[in-house]
Amino acid sequence: MGRNHKIAVLPGDGIGPEVIDGAVVVLKALMRSDPRLKLELTRGDVGEPANEKYGNPLPEETLALIRESNAILFGAVGKFATPVILPMRQKFQLFANVRPAYTFEGVPALQKNVDIIVIRENTEDVYKGIGYTIDDSSHVALRIFTRKGMERIIRYAFEYARREGRKSVLLAHKAPVILYTDLPFLNLFKDLSREYPDIEAKDMLIDSCAMKVVMAPQIFDVILVSNLMGDILSDVTAGVIGGLGFAPSGNIGENLAMFEPIHGSAPEFAGKHKVNPIGAILAAKMMLEWLGESEAASRIHRAVSAVLREGKIRTFDLGGDSTTEEMAEAIAKKIA
Ligand code: IPM
Ligand code: MG
Repeated sequence: MGRNHKIAVLPGDGIGPEVIDGAVVVLKALMRSDPRLKLELTRGDVGEPANEKYGNPLPEETLALIRESNAILFGAVGKFATPVILPMRQKFQLFANVRPAYTFEGVPALQKNVDIIVIRENTEDVYKGIGYTIDDSSHVALRIFTRKGMERIIRYAFEYARREGRKSVLLAHKAPVILYTDLPFLNLFKDLSREYPDIEAKDMLIDSCAMKVVMAPQIFDVILVSNLMGDILSDVTAGVIGGLGFAPSGNIGENLAMFEPIHGSAPEFAGKHKVNPIGAILAAKMMLEWLGESEAASRIHRAVSAVLREGKIRTFDLGGDSTTEEMAEAIAKKIA
């Protein structure tokens, strides 16, 4: 990929703007220290500010900006999450939600030496929003699993493992019980796995997987999982490594991807400048990786690790009282 990348920066609402400002400080420090790295950062509105300005939390102006961008750096949206995040995933077919969970030295966590990648299918399942109600007394939500949707996420997981030098892909499912969706998903997974003999294919029941993620997360490598189960499981993996403050994600499509911290808008903390921006900063790191800027991405990783290891700057989740800005500045300084 060329070195000039157009990035749509969508801070959103709640704590989104604070953590995204933190990520932008770090990206600017990277560009200052390596003038070959060119990121054209253009801001757009989503969520509450967009609703106030345009009467729409996901306005045409923002969609137009997205269409001319290579990637999106997204903060958070609170009450408009469903009318913003879900249509973005659908409209741009951001079918793979990649959610790494790794431990950092210096971060209090339930477990040590964790390095898990959750790959969550991001467009199907109950998130299609299809269902019906009968006589106001029975409520049905449909789990939609298509051949196309299953195949592309299975292939994505194996190709991801191959590219990143990972050893195995484990499908977490409930195939013995959910015969209409999870069983065909498991069968297709087994079939397609034969095309990737260099990667070990494993599977596990989702309930047992959730328990083992808590008790022995070191046994996991890449976990592939359907949409709703993955939504839950990725909060569990984040919980094990110290919380959502350290959990980035990438919503990956064919030609466009959106990177965001998993933590959401946390409106009770908005404007207090106390939340940890590391989720957003690691989301920016994932974005650089996806753009082919792996050197810049590892520089972010090293800077975050160093600041956490030293433990001088600590936001409240780390038991300190440093501000969001102080944390971002400390990471930016390491980069410089
Ligand atoms: C996530 C969130 C979203 C989801 C919500 C905000 C729609 O929980 O990204 O994990 O359910 O996917
Ligand atoms: Mg979630």
